[in-house]
Amino acid sequence: MGRVEGKIALVTGGASGIGLSAATLLTKEGAKVVIGDFNVEGATEAAERIIHSGGEAIGIFLDASKEDSIKKAVDITVEKYGKIDVLYNNVGLTNLQKDVDVVNMDLEEWDRLMNVNTKSVLLGSRYAIPHMIKAGGGSIINTASMAAFAGDATRSAYGASKAAVVNLTRYIAAQYGKNNIRCNSVAPGLILTPAAKNNMPEPVLSIFEKYNALPYHGEADDIGYTVLFLASDESKFITGQTIQVEGGHYMANPSIADFQALIG
Ligand SMILES: NC(=O)c1ccc[n+]([C@@H]2O[C@H](COP(=O)([O-])OP(=O)(O)OC[C@H]3O[C@@H](n4cnc5c(N)ncnc54)[C@H](O)[C@@H]3O)[C@@H](O)[C@H]2O)c1
Repeated sequence: MGRVEGKIALVTGGASGIGLSAATLLTKEGAKVVIGDFNVEGATEAAERIIHSGGEAIGIFLDASKEDSIKKAVDITVEKYGKIDVLYNNVGLTNLQKDVDVVNMDLEEWDRLMNVNTKSVLLGSRYAIPHMIKAGGGSIINTASMAAFAGDATRSAYGASKAAVVNLTRYIAAQYGKNNIRCNSVAPGLILTPAAKNNMPEPVLSIFEKYNALPYHGEADDIGYTVLFLASDESKFITGQTIQVEGGHYMANPSIADFQALIG
């Protein structure tokens, strides 16, 4: 018996990185997964790999910036499998060139990131919740970020959009808890997904590693296993929470690495 045996899940942005890990782990533990992604070839290939390994999944097109596309993905999930137990709102964008400091940021980019990173969480939940209520409950999981918990030199829109996800998580949890719907987020630190590896030059990766409490970077499965836990009934008394999976990046005095170097 798998940890999420018989559950039906929709994973957004599941063709790559964190979403792919979560989709794969959910199917290994008995869930049937709809992988929704802008990259429909990638979503279909991911589903084929899962089926090849004995799991059950389908890949579909999803544009998380468009309300009708999000609604359609939820509808397809319910039409195909009869219900939706788990919604993983994972799609999120960052833009190191245009999303910079508050004075210089591109305002169109602010709107785009708020739309894709935050409004997509609202919309996915809005369309899944009535199905979950009908079925007697469900688990909604959102991808936030450690960027939600501190100020930074750049990526102002990204940080604000992910902080909004953290509090929207509490609102969904508060509003639908009595319907047996839980809502939680996972807040990754730097995770070495293909996207992160392509975007981050080596000196930037080293800074992250220096300030992690642990001596290594995070991997997609570190988030995937957290999502699996939150999707499963093992976490049935946890709601409205954001689990920071970031190697202890923000849990100590931020200057500790410099003090350790000073002390030797
Ligand atoms: N990787 C990290 O270090 C890190 C850290 C903190 C938070 N996150 C968050 O984790 C989530 C996943 O990130 P990742 O690193 O796995 O990224 P990724 O680029 O590896 O995967 C993202 C997936 O989303 C898809 N996608 C992008 N825009 C889409 C859209 N509009 N509609 C549908 N699909 C779309 C892409 O095709 C891709 O398959 C994001 O919300 C991101 O903000 C990542």
